[in-house]
Amino acid sequence: MEFTDALLQWYDEHKRTLPWRGAGDAYAILVSEIMLQQTRAAAVIPYYSRFMAELPTAEVLAACPEERLLKLWEGLGYYSRARNLKKCAEVVVKEHGGRFPRTAAELVKLPGIGPYTAGAVASIAFWEREPAVDGNVLRVMARLTEDGADVTEQKVRDRWTEYLRDRMGARPGDLNQAFMDLGSLVCLPKSPLCEQCPLAGGCGALAHGTQGAYPNRGEKKAKRQERLTVFVVRSGDSFLIRRRPGKGLLSGLYELPNAAGRLSQEEIGAALTALGVRPLGAWEIVERQHVFTHVIWHMQVVRLETERAQTPGYLWYSGSEPMPEAFLKCL
Ligand code: ADE
Repeated sequence: MEFTDALLQWYDEHKRTLPWRGAGDAYAILVSEIMLQQTRAAAVIPYYSRFMAELPTAEVLAACPEERLLKLWEGLGYYSRARNLKKCAEVVVKEHGGRFPRTAAELVKLPGIGPYTAGAVASIAFWEREPAVDGNVLRVMARLTEDGADVTEQKVRDRWTEYLRDRMGARPGDLNQAFMDLGSLVCLPKSPLCEQCPLAGGCGALAHGTQGAYPNRGEKKAKRQERLTVFVVRSGDSFLIRRRPGKGLLSGLYELPNAAGRLSQEEIGAALTALGVRPLGAWEIVERQHVFTHVIWHMQVVRLETERAQTPGYLWYSGSEPMPEAFLKCL
């Protein structure tokens, strides 16, 4: 039996029940794939359901105000995904009459859609025989064949894409999703559950006990470490916030007042004065961390109460402003 048949057989028995499975509609599948790009399925489910209830079609998304969209995305992170999804919906509405193109080659031309997402949508929604090569696929294939090539290199991804394109068979969408489920449930990055694996019989890495050596991810770059001081200035049940600049990390979202570096007690006092904030008592300091793709924030969080007053450039959080997870952690 081909390993793809064994994988499909396993999928039919063990696949996860997920709300976007069986959707059949390219828009719904695209929304799920974009959300799933940096986020685990269990975490995506509530976001996906809420998003689809409010923005059920590309037309509705294209017409949605950006701030509302970002609010629906709040907590998922990587907000450029949401903005690109909206741009994509706009192009589909304007240039394709609201209907998604049916091939990966066409889909990949749309904003925010890379080869992986194009393959996933084309295969799941339109049954095109196109692979969707992501980290799961690369891990499974590298272990199966004990292939030590560096999977962070494009040419290695391209090689696996071609290899699998010839083997997609009659159920391409299911095969792609079978890789995703196998990678999430069995062929785990650490401590894979090889005794449950439908491909165990043909797996080179299992035979030689070398699962930990695959995939080769090249040399991982260390994340940049940044220290900052964040102010939680509370009045009743509201907080002082402001809009972040239009460019760069977390652009266009809101933020708590903050300063680069770990401020001393005196510097904290001075920063509060500059903000026009008079604390009603002593402030408390706690530590929080947030890990982004390329940066880690080490946050010294200063919490205090104040009378509500106006500070130029700032406003009081009403609950509807989209706030990055890094700052929500500080509250
Ligand atoms: N991860 C990315 N796409 C997925 C899908 N369609 N099902 C499950 N996990 C996924």
